[in-house]
Amino acid sequence: MNHDKITADSIRAMKARGEKIAALTAYDFPMTRLLDEAGVPLLLVGDSLGMVVLGYGDTTLVTMSEMEHHVRAAARAKPRGLLAADLPYQSYGTVIDAVKNSQRLIKEGAEAVKAEGGRSIEAQVRAIVAEGIPFLGHLGMLPQHIHEEGRYHIKGKAEAERQSLLEDARILAEAGAFAIVLELVTPPVAAEITKTISIPTIGIGSGTECDGQILVTPDLVGMFPWFTPRFIKPKMNGAEQMRAVVQDWAKSLQTPK
Ligand code: KIV
Repeated sequence: MNHDKITADSIRAMKARGEKIAALTAYDFPMTRLLDEAGVPLLLVGDSLGMVVLGYGDTTLVTMSEMEHHVRAAARAKPRGLLAADLPYQSYGTVIDAVKNSQRLIKEGAEAVKAEGGRSIEAQVRAIVAEGIPFLGHLGMLPQHIHEEGRYHIKGKAEAERQSLLEDARILAEAGAFAIVLELVTPPVAAEITKTISIPTIGIGSGTECDGQILVTPDLVGMFPWFTPRFIKPKMNGAEQMRAVVQDWAKSLQTPK
């Protein structure tokens, strides 16, 4: 087994080797350590933590200091996998903010940053990459735009949307992104982007043809039972098991000695 530290270049090289990239969200020390021990090469302190850890209704309420707090905790696991972190809503509107806030996340232990958008953030991506910070793109359904969008829906059905996604992917790759998350992109368009660009695509709800797949970990292990995206089939019923174990334990306290 290769124990070398995984870098953005290693993730990029996986596409060249035709090796599928597994990626999962990790929000704290034990979660990061467990996923890393399981061999996941790309770990993301995603701003989805706003919903599945902090109980917000969407990701737009997540702040830089909340992201820093969770990045610090995840980084203490010192993972072999690459630890990326989301730049939260409105933290990268200008080039100056994008660089300053990326540096704040890197200072806390992130090894790459992710932000949502294509041509609209090209200058920010170029500036982040020029600072030597690996950048992970995010196209398709952009959760930080949920208020403009109104709901989480599939992207790429209309021809104009298809062309726009292809163009955004090309722009991000040229700006220096090491990979791009494709969220809720129609599988044919996700496959077309994957074939067209040289950097890996990491799909979520975007079909099987991407170079890798990312999931929100609590969705995978059934630990957020109050909402499960349609494209997810949890691999275990973590919430049910936890309730049962806790109930059992609490009941055992009542058993007369
Ligand atoms: O915040 C997050 O967890 C994400 C993944 C869904 C890709 O952006």
